[in-house]
Amino acid sequence: SLTPLKINEIKKVNISNDQVDVDAKAVLFESGIYAVLPKDVPEKLALAALDVAGAPAQVEKLVKEGDTVCIIGGGGKSGILCCYQAMKNVGKTGKVIVFEYSEANAQRIRDLGLAHVVLVGDATKPVEIYNKINEITNGELCDVVINNVNVPGTEMSSILITKDDGVVYFFSMATSFTKAALGAEGVGKDVTMIVGNGYTKGHANLTLEIIRESKDIRELFEKLYV
Ligand SMILES: NC(=O)c1ccc[n+]([C@@H]2O[C@H](COP(=O)([O-])OP(=O)(O)OC[C@H]3O[C@@H](n4cnc5c(N)ncnc54)[C@H](OP(=O)(O)O)[C@@H]3O)[C@@H](O)[C@H]2O)c1
Repeated sequence: SLTPLKINEIKKVNISNDQVDVDAKAVLFESGIYAVLPKDVPEKLALAALDVAGAPAQVEKLVKEGDTVCIIGGGGKSGILCCYQAMKNVGKTGKVIVFEYSEANAQRIRDLGLAHVVLVGDATKPVEIYNKINEITNGELCDVVINNVNVPGTEMSSILITKDDGVVYFFSMATSFTKAALGAEGVGKDVTMIVGNGYTKGHANLTLEIIRESKDIRELFEKLYV
């Protein structure tokens, strides 16, 4: 969506992993960012992980030891990387909660041990998710909420489950500025909302390090994206 491509030939369209193999020339600007592809990670795996590199890198910046963090859509590609980083950052005293739509994706997170609590539900239903998170956190709600879904209409859920003075990071491209801004005002929530800047310093290295550190995530991503 950002980099101009002159496509000479479309070789293959891979519906299952959202990848298209092309013979093409990319136009890279002097101010653009780039990363050297590592020798120890297969190209397709590295590209799949780098696609969402901003998300776990922002988690590293936002999440502190002892925090309660909820990752909405935590069972997807960016969500899994965020879970790994959040588990690292919250330490022994914090809590990572995943709120995921399908039982299959939720089970993946349980199997990988990437969260303390995994809840299944629909994040487009604010009251449903609020009640569940309220109960799990004994009314305390979350210090940081990371939104990794691929559907519209989850702004209010993200806002409602964040405690006052907490932070919501909207990585999802389906986020509506209008719904987030007016939603927070409408329910009187003094939360900091961050537009999902896909870049933060060191994002590529941090993400590739996760792939190196976690054999489980690497195996799963190889299965799904290579
Ligand atoms: N900000 C940036 O720079 C940037 C860069 C790349 C991507 N993105 C965006 O980030 C988002 C996530 O990307 P991704 O590659 O991680 O996507 P993904 O692998 O498809 O993950 C999305 C996850 O959200 C879950 N989900 C869908 N509907 C839900 C609901 N109603 N309640 C709870 N969970 C729900 C999905 O569950 P099911 O599979 O069970 O439906 C899936 O696990 C997308 O919107 C993408 O466009 C942003």
